[in-house]
Amino acid sequence: MSKIEFSEEFDFENRITDTSEIPEDVVEGDNPLRPKSLDEYIGQEKAKENLKVFIEAAKIRGESLDHVLLYGPPGLGKTTLAGIIANELGVNLRITSGPAIEKPGDLAALLTNLNEGDVLFIDEIHRLSRAVEEILYPSMEDFAIDIITGKGQMAASYHLPLPKFTLVGATTRAGQLTAPLRDRFGVVLRLELYTAEELASIVERSAGILGVPIEYDGALEIASRSRGTPRIANRMLKRVRDFALVMSDGVITLETARTALDKLEVDELGLDQNDRRMLEAIIKFYNGGPVGLETLAAAIGEESITIEDVYEPYLLQIGFLSRTPRGRCITAEACRHLGYDFPKGTVNALPTQPSLLDGQ
Ligand code: ADE
Repeated sequence: MSKIEFSEEFDFENRITDTSEIPEDVVEGDNPLRPKSLDEYIGQEKAKENLKVFIEAAKIRGESLDHVLLYGPPGLGKTTLAGIIANELGVNLRITSGPAIEKPGDLAALLTNLNEGDVLFIDEIHRLSRAVEEILYPSMEDFAIDIITGKGQMAASYHLPLPKFTLVGATTRAGQLTAPLRDRFGVVLRLELYTAEELASIVERSAGILGVPIEYDGALEIASRSRGTPRIANRMLKRVRDFALVMSDGVITLETARTALDKLEVDELGLDQNDRRMLEAIIKFYNGGPVGLETLAAAIGEESITIEDVYEPYLLQIGFLSRTPRGRCITAEACRHLGYDFPKGTVNALPTQPSLLDGQ
């Protein structure tokens, strides 16, 4: 199996519906719930089908795989896919992130330590500095970098060839990538939120690995409250397992899943207090909208990036929120779910699909 190296710290937050990776999701540097091959990977059928072909073709040609850009909301398995790509190619995976590469020298050190064909995974690639990006271009295109040492008359330039590697870049906001960087990826794959059925299969698979007895209805209940996100589903599974063990015979049934998730204050659709607070703010303070992102962020004391990346994708997907040129609007469905009247004068705009250029 490929070797995995981490070069950064983990973020930590307590919310069960938080989509960032926390230490509990990872055991001794590797996550046993992460599938290791494309065949084990559930969902993302379009991305998987294409990747299968590109990986096979690269192997037949005996060449490195073209650079791959993965984009979509957090927690959908971008790091997992990078690991699978490396495994399927039979090469090592090196993991880092945009903010962790502070200087061009940091990137040069990473690149010169790669072996031929290795996969370099850069998470949050939209957060690379300009200076680092500048040396990434020739690395991606020509597999070489030019390093300048010294100043004035003592300046010298060295042309440093690099091993042929595959860059897998991941971002929640493809629209924030510069055009020259985006254009250097031969394969661009958008990851979608998972269906409840796909998530139920993931929960059943994870329960099997963890040795937790689970009934399909219980798995589907966890899946339905996981906001289309495997990371949340797997985290909920671990918490529901605790409730099942202490409150009954350890088997996760529909009933134990419902009781546990009600206690964790995640409703039947996966909304938690933060979602409700945001939606209620739009209803109560802005008469259902439209309200601008920054205004809404200030009203609920949240970063606008968190609203865009974490709260909104799922609320847009289930049709509780719509994005209009004048701002965010509540929908009639959201009002019904939260027990409010739909504010008079609000247009029930169609939910919009996020696109590659979102955030630009
Ligand atoms: N665990 C997390 N994501 C998964 C996926 N897409 N398929 C299978 N298991 C997973």
